[in-house]
Amino acid sequence: MPALGYTYDDHLPADFSAQSLRNDVLTGLTAPRKWLPPKWFYDKVGSELFEDITALQEYYPTRTERTILADSATGIVRAGQSRTLIELGSGSSEKTRLLLDAMIAQPAEPAEPHADHPVDPRGKVASYVALDVSEDALRSACAGLVSSYPRLRVGALRADFTHHLELLPKGERRMVAFLGSTIGNFEPAERAAFLRALRGELGDHDQFLLGADLVKSPDVLIPAYDDTGGVTAAFNLNVLDVLNHSLRADFDRSTFEHVVVWDAENEWIEMRLRATQDMVVHLSDLALDVHFDRGEEVRTEISAKFRRDRLIPELETAGFVARGWWTDPREWFSLSLWGTA
Ligand code: SAH
Ligand code: TRP
Repeated sequence: MPALGYTYDDHLPADFSAQSLRNDVLTGLTAPRKWLPPKWFYDKVGSELFEDITALQEYYPTRTERTILADSATGIVRAGQSRTLIELGSGSSEKTRLLLDAMIAQPAEPAEPHADHPVDPRGKVASYVALDVSEDALRSACAGLVSSYPRLRVGALRADFTHHLELLPKGERRMVAFLGSTIGNFEPAERAAFLRALRGELGDHDQFLLGADLVKSPDVLIPAYDDTGGVTAAFNLNVLDVLNHSLRADFDRSTFEHVVVWDAENEWIEMRLRATQDMVVHLSDLALDVHFDRGEEVRTEISAKFRRDRLIPELETAGFVARGWWTDPREWFSLSLWGTA
């Protein structure tokens, strides 16, 4: 066991951010309707701001998902019969602790050592692998888990879940969790591609646990993405600082404002940055000048909201089989468990 108490595998090349960010920014900021891809929100400051968002009064998803887990983690784990949890976009891994508690508390396997169930020499009874693009988030989450869970084997995998699902650790009866409604941050076509790719990586006894936010009144939805304290605005604007640092750009964040729109037709929240004046921004590393007209908007993120009746066929189309559905009394958020056969 390494001194850290957890393994750390970095599958993103050193220039991953540089290369991939360059392509994304070049594509997005030269498009007729400008956009930026969401994974670039999560530098160190961005990951911390996201944690602040999860504690906001207005931001109900984290709290609600946590209550569902608190009530149902034992049932979820029992349905999945898994002792290996792999989490995509794990962030702080805070809510995950409820699943880990349930996994560790599961009745022990047969005491007799067996070829299929060798007794772990260090007395570990379950494994957890966190996958995220953010090194800071991975390290602080895994260090915390190691000190709380002596019987848990912990690994960190720095990778991109839109490209590197083949890197998921192999094994029997794995449970892959994707919490926080991060699934809602994909465009529909990307979402379908992601689900198919994930299904392709899973075997007969593997499970997929999905946290998905549900459609509700815009009176609840909008403030969740536009809090009065301005934390979400700061999170959105932080992406400009990421571009300033990583691509030597000269965005002045005081010339943009945070805009949130509920798209009732697509049933998604759209986050944008609106230029408050005409300007030209220079991105040195791309040798690119980008013109903004006053009032012009850059789309930075969508957060799709789901309905059970539409989520089920979507997962089925990707090859999953429904195994369970858990929600809160107001039906604001859902956890669903999917098998493969
Ligand atoms: N699961 C946590 C965090 C959600 S925020 C929760 O429910 O609170 C989304 C997380 O996904 C962030 O930690 C971010 O760094 C990570 N992330 C975003 N895009 C990613 C990608 N393409 N590959 C891997 N991780 C990604
Ligand atoms: N998955 C989260 C969500 O859709 C991510 C998120 C929360 C987010 N607040 C945000 C993304 C603000 C961008 C901006 O709820």
